Amino acid sequence: MLKVGVLASGRGTNLQAIIDACEKKLINAKVVVVLSDNEKAFALERAKKHGIDAFYVEAKDKRKHEEKLDEILQSYGVELAVGAGYMRILSPWFIKRWYGKIINIHPSLLPSFKGIDAQRQALEYGVKLAGCTTHFMDEKPDHGPIILQAAVKVKDDDTRDTLAERILKVEHQILPRSIDLFEQGRLVIEGSRVKILPGDSWLEKYSYPDVLYSEGY
Ligand code: GRF
Repeated sequence: MLKVGVLASGRGTNLQAIIDACEKKLINAKVVVVLSDNEKAFALERAKKHGIDAFYVEAKDKRKHEEKLDEILQSYGVELAVGAGYMRILSPWFIKRWYGKIINIHPSLLPSFKGIDAQRQALEYGVKLAGCTTHFMDEKPDHGPIILQAAVKVKDDDTRDTLAERILKVEHQILPRSIDLFEQGRLVIEGSRVKILPGDSWLEKYSYPDVLYSEGY
């Protein structure tokens, strides 16, 4: 069973989606520890409610913060680290130690709209298709080999929040699925691309009719 460590800074709905997928045995994984740079993060409450060890790791000193993250993740035997709304940029030092074993979810179709409030950026740009991306983290923020993407239609009357809400529901599908593919050993990083080896699909079971999911979902 894959040991997963989750980094989160906020309300933790992506963390919840991972926990739920594990508990429903959709994925052969277990969240063993949750870490946050925000002591008020509701993600920490969510972890505790599910009997998962959760730690606030002070982030005043970036290097000390990252050393603590690394120490705790290692001590729990984490095999895959997941950024689920973790809002800090991890340093090359940290990424070097976890490259290939740390993934992230971003609420846009990367490489468009990196950075914060990607949903607002997309809406203000006037795109017709927005969406979300999971990727292996590399030394550049919101960068790294892409695992899955899903495209969500933008509606004329969308506000930032209605669009973000619609994207979030799809994030809650592609992030657990990305962990599932990792656990199955079906993700092969080839340079800047990820090859997904053949196998089962979630399309029939967990998909929204008007969302386009990339190969491998
Ligand atoms: C998600 O939209 C995620 O893509 C972005 O921040 C949001 C976090 O939401 N990085 P939550 O904390 O998982 O609810």
